[in-house]
Amino acid sequence: MKREKVVVLTGAGISAESGIRTFRDADGLWEEYRIEEVATWDAWQRNPALVLEFYNKRRAQLGTVVPNAAHVALVKLEEKFDVQIITQNVDDLHERAGSANILHLHGELVKVRSTADDELVYNIGYGEIGLGDHCEKGFQLRPHIVWFGEAVPLIEAAADLVAEADILLIIGTSLLVYPAAGLMHYAPARCMKYVVDPNSLPVGGISRLEVLQMKAGSGVPLLVNRLLSDN
Ligand code: APR
Repeated sequence: MKREKVVVLTGAGISAESGIRTFRDADGLWEEYRIEEVATWDAWQRNPALVLEFYNKRRAQLGTVVPNAAHVALVKLEEKFDVQIITQNVDDLHERAGSANILHLHGELVKVRSTADDELVYNIGYGEIGLGDHCEKGFQLRPHIVWFGEAVPLIEAAADLVAEADILLIIGTSLLVYPAAGLMHYAPARCMKYVVDPNSLPVGGISRLEVLQMKAGSGVPLLVNRLLSDN
């Protein structure tokens, strides 16, 4: 029998209970840092050392946290469904939980790339990069992160995946940052959608939608068990 396709769009909220701060909650990262100082191309031009330090710190922290019950539950979904994760997160917690298919819309902390050639991408794990660290062609390395104002190279691939979804899960994202926030609109009419987030989100007017106003650590395992036992 053909397996149904489940596409999962995740945001910072799924990693909150692992100890990684979200961006826009009360204690969010963008309360402490200004986006324009650490997460734009202009910031990189103005003060690359500060930008590198910001991501070095976040990368180092990543090495100290582990996936939570929500990441783990999504792996269990693969017992019955074809599962594709589309994450806005730059952490590697879906990988470490064991999910098979993961698309990183906004880049990955564990990777860096050449400032002169987007194809030259290097895995550095939880290590640091500094000014003077170069790619093999001699150009400064930068975080492999999609900064504000930069194109999102994988957005079309992500939209194509959502367009094939039988079930769409939206977990722990404020749905405020485009183009990622627009992805749910590519879901076909038949697609059932589920949102798991403790706060209420801008999803009015979306059909075939159920909202579980819960934290991911409890809401996702609950939803996954339901999907595995239904039909
Ligand atoms: N479980 C589930 N959701 C949670 C939890 C939790 N334990 N804690 C918080 N949340 C929810 C919040 O209610 C909010 O809706 O997670 C969401 C976090 O929203 P943002 O901080 O805006 O994170 P995200 O939507 O992933 O941001 C999108 O913005 O700064 C950029 O590039 C960055 O990928 C990021 C993008």
